[in-house]
Amino acid sequence: MEAPPAVPASGLLQLACTSDHDLHIGIDARGVEIELVDLRLRFHHSFISGPIAKRARQSNQLLLKACNNKQRNISRVLDLTAGWGVDGYTLARHGQAVTLLEQNELVHAIVAQSLAQLAANPATADIATRMVLEQIDAIDYLQSLGEAEFDCIYLDPMFPGHKSGAKPAKEMQILQALTDNRNIEACFQLALARAGKRVVVKRAAKAAPLGDRKPDLVQRARTIRFDVYLTT
Ligand SMILES: C[S@@+](CC[C@H](N)C(=O)[O-])C[C@H]1O[C@@H](n2cnc3c(N)ncnc32)[C@H](O)[C@@H]1O
Repeated sequence: MEAPPAVPASGLLQLACTSDHDLHIGIDARGVEIELVDLRLRFHHSFISGPIAKRARQSNQLLLKACNNKQRNISRVLDLTAGWGVDGYTLARHGQAVTLLEQNELVHAIVAQSLAQLAANPATADIATRMVLEQIDAIDYLQSLGEAEFDCIYLDPMFPGHKSGAKPAKEMQILQALTDNRNIEACFQLALARAGKRVVVKRAAKAAPLGDRKPDLVQRARTIRFDVYLTT
């Protein structure tokens, strides 16, 4: 069946107009289409179908080992760097309550649209009830957060691009073009003081640990790793 035509929502369209890039945004029944015309990149954001939904279904991910330790009863997660919400959605899909923070207005609005579609779909509505999305700089949120309100605080700053390395997936290239890292080290220090049980940081496989602080545990894959800092 042919997909319905993409109809831009007025709020998202206005935000797209303020971007430095030549950006097209459209919404259809499947999600939000984002096209960076100047960089020739296009991707469809949806929590219900496509690559994000497919990835979130996998239960053997290192992200889940790092952040979703059932024996240690880690059920409330604060994701300081929501981005496209792939990691936050994955955690919510596997039962955790996740608060996602995103500083970039446009990225936040796209994820909010997909989250509304997730909530409106009877098959996925219960996952949406476990997700809260806020547009805020994580440093402001952390400064007003009490101790141990979240069991796990998760941080996934953008990796620096390597000229020699393979290009990241196109959705990550779009995110790289639209956003930047803000106050990451300060967020990390505050997270260590606020997390009830652990702080988890996603890093490139060979990158130094954030703030040069040695993690207590590490979950390693070929290109990335998760540094785990135990706070109790
Ligand atoms: C590498 S992406 C995260 C990808 C995300 N884990 C996912 O699954 O899609 C980093 C994101 O963090 C956001 N960010 C960077 N610094 C931030 C801050 N201080 N507060 C909130 N968001 C921040 C960026 O705007 C960007 O969208």
